[in-house]
Amino acid sequence: MEKILEKILIVGPASQFLGVKIARELGIETINTETKTFPDGENYLRISIEDETKILGKEVIIIQSTGPSSSSTQNARLIELFMIIDSIKRMGAAKIIVVVPYLAYARQDKRFRPGESKFADVILQLLNSLSIDEFYTVDVHAPALIDECSCKAINIDSMKLLADYIKSKGAKDIIVISPDKGAIERSKAFAKYFGENIPVEVLEKERDVKTGEIKMKGILSLKDKDVVIADDIIATGGTMATSIKLAKASGARKVFAVATHALLLQEAKYRLLKAGADEIIGTDSIDNEACKVSLAKIIADYLK
Ligand code: R5P
Repeated sequence: MEKILEKILIVGPASQFLGVKIARELGIETINTETKTFPDGENYLRISIEDETKILGKEVIIIQSTGPSSSSTQNARLIELFMIIDSIKRMGAAKIIVVVPYLAYARQDKRFRPGESKFADVILQLLNSLSIDEFYTVDVHAPALIDECSCKAINIDSMKLLADYIKSKGAKDIIVISPDKGAIERSKAFAKYFGENIPVEVLEKERDVKTGEIKMKGILSLKDKDVVIADDIIATGGTMATSIKLAKASGARKVFAVATHALLLQEAKYRLLKAGADEIIGTDSIDNEACKVSLAKIIADYLK
């Protein structure tokens, strides 16, 4: 029988709210982290601990999202994550469980142009090289990616939580819109949480791989419908804003712009509201004002 280890949770700098909430759900102690950037740009991180024996022989859960924000970059968040794992290993943890709600670089799961790297694989290989025991992420852009993990790896689905939130806002006559072909399966699965026969419409998106420019087509009949546009990520808001404009032009009553990871970079907030979004809804995989739905309980349930 597997020995039951005492658990402790390390709260990474990018997941301060979520980390503490998960620890509360699990009823376990947290330890925070301290970070700074050296004058040459290198990152520094230490676990806020004086007595390293607190980690010895424990099951250590690390929570660190790797999304960019106004105060950090995804590169810094990844380096911090690797530093946390390394320091925990050096303190003699018996088991290391890593939770990365938003996995940076997951969109580079393919080589779109000659000369490119398949960098998402490299991120997973780096994690493998640190010999962690379990890996959890949420609605990762390319679910097949986690097959690259050499340890137990789970991609947690946040769709029911997001759908429950939208239902709580009184949405009715719902239509789900998939902003591109790549999101169809996700949108179909999402629609099921609103009821058995909820329609799913698909927009045709083309992104210029050189300039990033988006073009979208789709003729929809949305008169008096509440429209839910669901994506895994809202980054600059280009995809979502273009979809919202099409939905509004097609007669939508209300538009809910939903993404598990609402990064809301650059002018995204302005673009989405200006396009006509009634509400922007994300999870606390990203710690910002769009975070309306907490992943704490669902993640804690997996860690129990
Ligand atoms: C792409 O395939 C993703 O699922 C999102 O649609 C995309 O990352 C959103 O990016 P942006 O907000 O910059 O259009």
